Amino acid sequence: MVEVVEVDPQDEAALRDYWETEQQAIRHDRPDAIIRTWDSLRNATQTPGPFYRRELLAARLDGRTVGVADLGFWLQGNDHLAGLEVNVLASHRRRGTGRALFEEGERRRRALGRTSVSGEAYVGEGQTLETSAAGLFATAMGMTSAHQEDHLALRLPVDETQVSRLRDAVAGHASAYDVVTWGDRCPDEHVEAFCAMNTQMSADVPSGALDVEAVVWDEARLRSSEERTARSFHRVIAAARRRDDGVLGGYTLLYLPHGEEHVLQDDTLVMPEHRGSRLGTMLKLATLDIVRRDHPERQTLHTWTEPDNHAMYRTNLGFGYVAVERMHEMQLKDGV
Ligand SMILES: CC(C)(COP(=O)(O)OP(=O)(O)OC[C@H]1O[C@@H](n2cnc3c(N)ncnc32)[C@H](O)[C@@H]1OP(=O)(O)O)[C@@H](O)C(=O)NCCC(=O)NCCS
Repeated sequence: MVEVVEVDPQDEAALRDYWETEQQAIRHDRPDAIIRTWDSLRNATQTPGPFYRRELLAARLDGRTVGVADLGFWLQGNDHLAGLEVNVLASHRRRGTGRALFEEGERRRRALGRTSVSGEAYVGEGQTLETSAAGLFATAMGMTSAHQEDHLALRLPVDETQVSRLRDAVAGHASAYDVVTWGDRCPDEHVEAFCAMNTQMSADVPSGALDVEAVVWDEARLRSSEERTARSFHRVIAAARRRDDGVLGGYTLLYLPHGEEHVLQDDTLVMPEHRGSRLGTMLKLATLDIVRRDHPERQTLHTWTEPDNHAMYRTNLGFGYVAVERMHEMQLKDGV
């Protein structure tokens, strides 16, 4: 029988064993997966911040770790929610290990008074929720799909002709704006506007039927997030500034994990009154220029977009992004 134990993140050997098991289990089904780095797992769990807490579980069989689970909680906002990710080594599947990890995660989140739990199920090409291990497992655990996103990937450098075409498309529309960029720390002069855009992003990002609440960003949250992120990632932010009054109308954000060859294009937001001027494309072009100039070692860009978010999806296809897998955010709500 497997035994499920909690991993002490300060125990470096146990944490490394957790991370290696997670890597191996995920990589088996998902050649295109972007998996958290050792560095980021270490930083997130050994020095947790004020906004999120994790409990790591390991399933042990004859002294060997054969599966892992990450149970996460938001600490300021969304205090009814938990996130639970379960991964089992391919060699040890269909023996109740996933269920044992899930049930221990569930016991813990209920004990903490959290009433909803969600987890990601990735479905590869040619598969569906009804045919993939991830989908069948989550469904057997009582979860349903509450939200979907495609994981899109783009090889770098992007073809020059494609880039010129995009620049031409933007030229006629976005001339009322210029672009300001920064890295790991937002300049003081933009903090208020950047927090307002992050709050808007939290409210506007499509989240389907997920039981998630928008979060209000303030300077303390921003500075804490910047400081923590900088330990594992370099950030690139491009914001669109209206020339005549200096108002920021949108932003896009890249994470460059230290020591890796990929880039994550995370948030992209255009504020409601600034939409329709191709600012999304202009901002993504600006970040692409920075990656090309300052980070030529990066080979791929990755982003996640809801298939029904036509404006963003079309913008991404325009750059040459292709869908490599679909993510279903699976959810279970008590009493439903
Ligand atoms: C999904 C995953 C965690 C399942 O782990 P596991 O140890 O094989 O799961 P269990 O043996 O405890 O299975 C529990 C139930 O899930 C369902 N299930 C799991 N995998 C299945 C599969 N390949 N086909 C059909 N049903 C499956 C079954 O109902 C099973 O109960 P049963 O064996 O009594 O019929 C594992 O395949 C994995 O790590 N996949 C990659 C990561 C992932 O997808 N995580 C979950 C996302 S929500």
